Amino acid sequence: MANRFGIKLQNRLPSLAGVYPFSAPITTTNSVIYSYKKLRIVGKRRAFIPRRVVIGIGISVWSQFMGMAANVGGKSFMASASQKSAIEQVLKNVEWPEQFPFRDEDFQRFDESPDTLFYEMPRFVTHIDDQAIAALTKYYSEVLPPSNAPGVAILDMCSSWVSHYPAGYKQERIVGMGLNEEELKRNPVLTEYVVQDLNNNPKLPFGDNTFDVITNVVSVDYLTKPLDVFKEMSRVLKPGGLAIMSFSNRCFFTKAISIWTSTGDADHVMIVGSYFHYAGGFEPPQAVDISPNPGRSDPMYIVYSRKIATA
Ligand SMILES: C[S@@+](CC[C@H](N)C(=O)[O-])C[C@H]1O[C@@H](n2cnc3c(N)ncnc32)[C@H](O)[C@@H]1O
Repeated sequence: MANRFGIKLQNRLPSLAGVYPFSAPITTTNSVIYSYKKLRIVGKRRAFIPRRVVIGIGISVWSQFMGMAANVGGKSFMASASQKSAIEQVLKNVEWPEQFPFRDEDFQRFDESPDTLFYEMPRFVTHIDDQAIAALTKYYSEVLPPSNAPGVAILDMCSSWVSHYPAGYKQERIVGMGLNEEELKRNPVLTEYVVQDLNNNPKLPFGDNTFDVITNVVSVDYLTKPLDVFKEMSRVLKPGGLAIMSFSNRCFFTKAISIWTSTGDADHVMIVGSYFHYAGGFEPPQAVDISPNPGRSDPMYIVYSRKIATA
C-alpha cells in the first residue's frame, strides 16, 4: 500500500493503540486543534496570547488522550510474526522521493508552548512497560560497545533519569541531553549532562566526530526540527558511529508532532528512516522490531544507522 508520503509500504500496522480505536474523540480533538490555532493567531495579531485558555485546552486534550491510553494501553496491538517482519521490511529498498516529503505543518503539535515548561517538573517515571524496557536493555547489551571500553563516548539524547543501558554499564564519557535537570542529575549512567531545548536550538554543543554511539529512547517524535538534529547527529558521530532511535506506540500526545500522531507504527519507522536519509551522512537506515511480547506488552521498535565511515 502507498502511504501518504508517496512511499510504498508493504503493510500498515495499527498503532497508537490508546488513540485510534476511538473515532469520536479524534473529531473532538480536531476541533480543539482548530480553536487552538485560532487562538494563537488572534494572540499573535494582538500581541497577546490568552495563555491560560490555551494551556487549559491543552491539558484537557492531554487528559482525554492519556485516559484513553490508560484504558487500552498497547493491548489492542495485534502483533504477530508477520507484522514483526513487516516492520522490519519497511526500510528495505525504499525509493525515497527526491525531496523531504513532509511539510511544516507535519511538525506542529497541539501544545506549542515552550517545551521547557512541559518538562519543568521532573517525572521519575518510566514511559514504556517493564518488558519493553527489558527488550531495549537486551538490545543495547548486544550492540553497545563493551562496558569500560577505552576512549568510548556516548550521547543519550532526550535523556531523563534512566537511559535503559545494561546494569552497571560504564564508559569514560556518557553525556545526557534533556530538558529536566533534576532527572538528568539522577541518571546513574551519565558522566555529564546538558539541558537544551532541541526544538529551540538543534545545534549540538559538541565537536565533530565526538561520539561512538547516540541513543534516543521514545522521544524522536517530539523533535520539530528533526533534519537539523539528525544533521547534527551525523556531525558529532565518529565515522562509523551508530545512532539508535527507539520508540513504542505511546507518547505525550500534545507534544508529539502531528505527522506522528496521525500515522501508525510502520509509518513511524518510515518517518524516522527518512530523517536519517534526508539528513545525509548516514548509511541506509534499518529497522528492528524488538517487541517483547506482542499484544501483551508495549511494542518496541528500533531504527538505526551508522555515520558513513568516510563522511
Ligand atoms: C518520554 S520522555 C523519555 C525520556 C527517556 N528517554 C526515557 O526513555 O525514559 C521524553 C524526553 O524527551 C526530552 N525532550 C522532549 N522535548 C525535548 C526538546 N525539545 N529538547 C530536548 N529534549 C526534549 C525530555 O527531556 C524527556 O526526557
